[in-house]
Amino acid sequence: MAEKVNKDHIFYRNPTKYYPTAERGEGIYIYDSEGKQYIDGSGGAVVVSIGHGVEEVKKAMLGQAGKIAFTHGSQFTTEAAIDLAEKLVNISPEGLDRVYFLSGGSEAVETAVKMARQYQVDRGAPSKYKVISRWTSYHGNTLGALALSGHTGRRKYYQPLIQHTPHIAPAYCYRCSFGSEPGKCNLECAEELEKAILYEGPESVSAFMAEPVVGATAGALVPQDGYFQRIREICDKYDVLLIVDEVMTGIGRTGKIFAVDHWNVAPDMLICAKGLAGGYTPIYCLLTKEKIYRTIKEGNGTFVHGHTYSQNPLSSAIALAVLVYIEKHDLVNRSAKMGAYLLEKLKVLERHPIVGNVRGLGLFAGLEFVRNKETKETFDPKLKVNVLIGNRVFEKGLIIYPGGGGADGVHGDHILVAPPFVITEEQIDQIVKILDESIAEITEEKGLDASG
Ligand SMILES: Cc1ncc(COP(=O)(O)O)c(C=O)c1O
Repeated sequence: MAEKVNKDHIFYRNPTKYYPTAERGEGIYIYDSEGKQYIDGSGGAVVVSIGHGVEEVKKAMLGQAGKIAFTHGSQFTTEAAIDLAEKLVNISPEGLDRVYFLSGGSEAVETAVKMARQYQVDRGAPSKYKVISRWTSYHGNTLGALALSGHTGRRKYYQPLIQHTPHIAPAYCYRCSFGSEPGKCNLECAEELEKAILYEGPESVSAFMAEPVVGATAGALVPQDGYFQRIREICDKYDVLLIVDEVMTGIGRTGKIFAVDHWNVAPDMLICAKGLAGGYTPIYCLLTKEKIYRTIKEGNGTFVHGHTYSQNPLSSAIALAVLVYIEKHDLVNRSAKMGAYLLEKLKVLERHPIVGNVRGLGLFAGLEFVRNKETKETFDPKLKVNVLIGNRVFEKGLIIYPGGGGADGVHGDHILVAPPFVITEEQIDQIVKILDESIAEITEEKGLDASG
């Protein structure tokens, strides 16, 4: 049979791959132009939360489009943006009172870095500019966000263009950098932040940025309880802003509205979120403390930054409709409940010789694949085990989000399973069944079982 190719003018992300044409979506399903049904088991790239094709969102979209679809943030404010900001402040951790709207995650990350910097200058601390982040992290693909991201594979090509910024070890319990174990450690990975601040010089450090639960680069790394509380203390001690990147975790994904809510930690800035509009429109935001807003207002008077589509009224109305839908259907609690069920079922897959670790929080789960469970030896990256598994489940009508490089930036294979919150137990069983079959098939076909 001739291999399928895409014959059009799109500059595809992977020109060697065939992309089926998605025609429509409904609930947890996507249907392609040949009528094939896919379970959206990762909500794309951890985006779709309330499911596809929700009528209420369509109505809000049309309603706002009928009024006004675009205004520029330097000229107008709109009811839609005002209402969305109010809603977000009401559901956010204590003290986050101002909302800066954006249309991409990388854009939001870079905005946070610049806002932190301008805040430091405007309050009279101009020597503070460095942002410390962590290895095995992802904060976006634009050059500034990539500088903070700790993923060698994504950085390698662009290294000469990437500014050097300090990184510390991640909270990666399965592969603890300090040789410790959950429950027995002294949160050495959090203490690293203090060391890094002292090495760099506290007078030079503006902020620390981290994902509360690491997503794309390692597959749902959940820190130990106490980790973020300790990070908060260290930031306070050295007058460093704490920025949490909740691009993947925000708006219910982990079973709380924000992942930091699990630890009652109030950051100075919070970047949110693919789930803000659940895939219905590109809108993100940066939530900040009033003192940051006030300092900039009383300092320069203007935040020297801006993007054309920020504060977009059409996107704002859509995001508000998504938040209202989440609240009306109690979907954050559903994410917690279904997430617990998903994790329990996925844990069973640890019986496969190549499944080293299953972890997660809410409907945000990760499976890590290893060549040897005893030693946690990784597969040769050339084998692309995560891609093989991703492709096999896709053939069987399941979409998951594969990734590599978690172990050391180059080695390591994982997948993320993060379905829409409206998923049922039966549908979760189906996801696990397809994963179970596919992992067994790939293990056998590629001879991946080192113990055999
Ligand atoms: C934690 C995190 N931050 C930032 C980004 C970048 O977002 P975007 O792809 O919208 O630029 C991502 C994307 O996956 C992410 O997971």
